[in-house]
Amino acid sequence: MKREDFPVGAVMKRVLVAGGAGFLGSHLCEYLVGQGHHVTCVDSFATGSLNNVKALTGSNRFVLLTQDICDPLPESVTADEIYNLACAASPPHYQADPVHTMMTCVVGTNNLLALAERCGARFLQASTSEVYGDPEQHPQREDYWGHVNPTGPRACYDEGKRAAETLCFDYLRAGRADVRVVRIFNTYGPRMRPDDGRIISNLVCQALAGEPLTVYGTGEQTRSFCYVTDLIGGLVRMMAAKDNPGAPVNFGNPGEFTINELAELVLKITGSSSTISLHPLPTDDPQRRRPDIDRAHKLFGWQPEIPLVEGLRPTIEWFARETRKARQRIPGAARLAAGSAGRLPEPVAVPRH
Ligand SMILES: NC(=O)c1ccc[n+]([C@@H]2O[C@H](COP(=O)([O-])OP(=O)(O)OC[C@H]3O[C@@H](n4cnc5c(N)ncnc54)[C@H](O)[C@@H]3O)[C@@H](O)[C@H]2O)c1
Repeated sequence: MKREDFPVGAVMKRVLVAGGAGFLGSHLCEYLVGQGHHVTCVDSFATGSLNNVKALTGSNRFVLLTQDICDPLPESVTADEIYNLACAASPPHYQADPVHTMMTCVVGTNNLLALAERCGARFLQASTSEVYGDPEQHPQREDYWGHVNPTGPRACYDEGKRAAETLCFDYLRAGRADVRVVRIFNTYGPRMRPDDGRIISNLVCQALAGEPLTVYGTGEQTRSFCYVTDLIGGLVRMMAAKDNPGAPVNFGNPGEFTINELAELVLKITGSSSTISLHPLPTDDPQRRRPDIDRAHKLFGWQPEIPLVEGLRPTIEWFARETRKARQRIPGAARLAAGSAGRLPEPVAVPRH
């Protein structure tokens, strides 16, 4: 989806983006401010970064509120639309403080839903494909109830997000707010954190550093990868839709790749000579992931447009730039690391999938 294709109304809105300083949230804030809306970004900076929204802080249509959504929001906060993206999304981050992750999903989401009720705001909840757990159904449709371990180390996130969905649909059924729920599948792009432990950031950073690429299990497990601008286009469409779908909607890219295929692609684009190093599978790691996006397509005419190989290029360039900047901040590091690391070679021709 191109920027000019985004469904934009002429009306300027007051939009609150919780988690707006994170990876997805900052792209969303940027898009909304660009469309002339007034955006309040609420973020605790647990995993987000000021750098992600630095360019927006000069705009008089952008307000940054440093706040944990588990705490009551100031009475003065108001909005026409609320996007709730606040929650650490990568396993090492959401597992670092699992109780807080669960509270963010439940108490935090409830605080924002109460705000939506008070302001009469439309509400969009960023849920996740993790609600399907290690799925027994493939690809995953929205009517599949999932296969989740409620007591494992991923449960704070998976079950937290499931509980948040429950709250959302209870508010909707009770007529307390116009609530919409999107289930986001693996999304990638510039502004992911190098240390977030997600598969694309891991492999790209390792390839750029000339280190062995960490692949878990046999590498034959599959994932699907959606480029960030495609995803943001989906969120905006879902929020803008006149009729509430009344059910969750999957957003992701149905192209399915094994982790080995992804690793090969990363090696090819970076020109890295890194090797691949196999490690044991983490607990409850799903074997297959692919969204069924029929519902999003039927309701909003939405489908992703950026193939993996195209989205990987700007993502890799961004990581390479960040790596160079980080090195410049450490005296002497540039000289020490003058090998292949961080030097992005000219893109090579890679076949489209
Ligand atoms: N990126 C993906 O592939 C993906 C997939 C599925 C779902 N999601 C969902 O999308 C949302 C955004 O994900 P992301 O990839 O941008 O992650 P992220 O970690 O980059 O962003 C999350 C943001 O929320 C903030 N935050 C966390 N807890 C908070 C709290 N209690 N109060 C206020 N702010 C808080 C963080 O500081 C960060 O800025 C998350 O809710 C995540 O569950 C993302």
